[in-house]
Amino acid sequence: MGTATAGASGRFILAGVMGDPIAHSRSPLIYNHWMGEHGVNGRYVPLHVRIENLEAALRGLPALGFAGCNLTIPHKVKALGMIDAIDPVAARIGAVNCVVVEEGGALRGLNTDAYGYVANLKEQAPLWRPDAGPAIVLGAGGAARAVVAGLLDEGTREIRLTNRTPAAAEELAAAFGDRVSVVGWQDRSAALAGASLLVNTTSLGMAGKPALDIALDDLPSQAVVSDIVYVPLETPLLADARARGHAVSDGLGMLLHQAVPSFRAWAGVDAAVTPALRALAVASLAA
Ligand code: ATR
Repeated sequence: MGTATAGASGRFILAGVMGDPIAHSRSPLIYNHWMGEHGVNGRYVPLHVRIENLEAALRGLPALGFAGCNLTIPHKVKALGMIDAIDPVAARIGAVNCVVVEEGGALRGLNTDAYGYVANLKEQAPLWRPDAGPAIVLGAGGAARAVVAGLLDEGTREIRLTNRTPAAAEELAAAFGDRVSVVGWQDRSAALAGASLLVNTTSLGMAGKPALDIALDDLPSQAVVSDIVYVPLETPLLADARARGHAVSDGLGMLLHQAVPSFRAWAGVDAAVTPALRALAVASLAA
């Protein structure tokens, strides 16, 4: 309240999230909570947009009076070619998860996933230091690209990347330079020796998916373990890590933190990931 927001100035802020499927998205819960908290006159809606309709949907945003939108699966990569101006961070990651409608109707694309990952890591594992040792990243999809970009920007000197499909890992490593090396998927447990951070960016461990099969025995006790999967909130990987005494950071925290710069970009409001918001999100996952 009291901030000089577009909402507070009387303008109705309309925003939403485009995805397919979209019913499961927690984004409406997050942004509508912030709109209420900050007295923003507006509404955030789920938008079920099929991939073949993405460009028409994006182009329709200015005409419909949207301030912006978020993008989720499967739109984050394809949208790159449909937006007027791509922020350098989004270009580097190769994906857009936030679109701002500028004055005059031009669309600007941002990526806030790298920020969200690192901000949550710092909050939930405050003793983590980017230069404490190598980071091991499991997976080579869009989420892995954001995590790698975020860690490199923080000053991590070595990232060991491992993925079921080695070609995807090689491609990602080549795109990010010589601080990123590739380790065979079958060697993922041994690659934990000397590491200071382990990140799972694969869908393994998600409800309905196979478990992530990795042995944490070689991981130093002070290493942090993080997972971007948030259903379940405590993945088997995080439960195992916690039982062994590792500090952990979870996928829900990343989801909540990546929303902060999005809200700032299209609503002009600095919101916070409060315990109340997290409790709301946890309750919605349990429902
Ligand atoms: P996102 O954009 O959310 O990262 P994605 O691009 O589909 O999603 O990436 C999913 C990641 O999970 C990939 O690294 C994928 O490995 P492949 O490149 O080999 O497909 C990984 N993944 C999914 N199912 C897997 C499984 N059963 N075993 C190992 N890795 C798996």
